[in-house]
Amino acid sequence: MPFQVNQLHPIFAAEMFGCDILKPVTDETRNAVEDAMAKYAVLVIRDQAAASDEDQVRFAKAFGPLELPPDLGMSERTRPTRVHPKLYDVSNLDENGNLDKPDTLRRKFAKGNELFHTDSSFNDLPTKWSMLLAHVVTPTGGNTEFVDTRAAYDALSPSMKEQVEPLSVIHSLTYSRERGGLTGTTVFDRAFPPVTQPLVRTSASGRKALYIGAHAATVVGMDEAAGRTLLDKLISDASRPEYIYSHKWLPGDLVIWDNRCTMHRATEYAYMEDRRDLRRATINEFGEDRVGARPI
Ligand code: OGA
Ligand code: MN
Repeated sequence: MPFQVNQLHPIFAAEMFGCDILKPVTDETRNAVEDAMAKYAVLVIRDQAAASDEDQVRFAKAFGPLELPPDLGMSERTRPTRVHPKLYDVSNLDENGNLDKPDTLRRKFAKGNELFHTDSSFNDLPTKWSMLLAHVVTPTGGNTEFVDTRAAYDALSPSMKEQVEPLSVIHSLTYSRERGGLTGTTVFDRAFPPVTQPLVRTSASGRKALYIGAHAATVVGMDEAAGRTLLDKLISDASRPEYIYSHKWLPGDLVIWDNRCTMHRATEYAYMEDRRDLRRATINEFGEDRVGARPI
């Protein structure tokens, strides 16, 4: 089947037409998606409104094992079931499909997503892609913004490239949630112990990329404040307005991003008024389907 691919931003990001995730994933489809992802790092597959959670899970698994949402100690009986257990529920809806209340933990987590981040860099397994499918979108606001950290790496001066290349960074969920305004989260350190990640990675295209974002807490071997200043500068330089692709959601958009060479953030919308129902499959590079965090 011929796929049509159009670039959406001068630096990266593309949309693809002609891909139907309800169909079995052929080698041709897999190669077309892998190639487009290696080139553009963010890929919007249009017109997937007919896809069920099962279709999304099956399509995602064609590209790698899934990172499963943590059940946070909930039993089978009390775990929410609105969304397939292998998908992350990125909505403002409760178990019964009603709008969420202010001040729930979910709301506070959603606020944390408004900082540029890369999904699950606080997990020990390398996260490959996220695939977010829009079922219900908001009339205004609620865009998701992306930046390409290969371009951010390319834009560094030669001496800065030399400085960052050998560095390692501690990524921590506790750190990013506190920065996002959530207090008293040191409990996360037990469920999601901080992990060490390289600051520079080679992406699928062969281009080097910065591995940064809100979970990046401290630089190994550097004074804490100096490491923080370096990370803040890398993140703010990477997210200058002209570098941002802002995705305005249409129902049925399946947006795939490479977590190893992009950052993204949620933007505000009328959380208490407008329904928004997006669901995310998250793919690891290797291994089996597995809960991201290690058990408490
Ligand atoms: C995510 C995420 C942003 C949004 O699903 O990982 O960060 O706009 N979503 O909901
Ligand atoms: Mn995210």
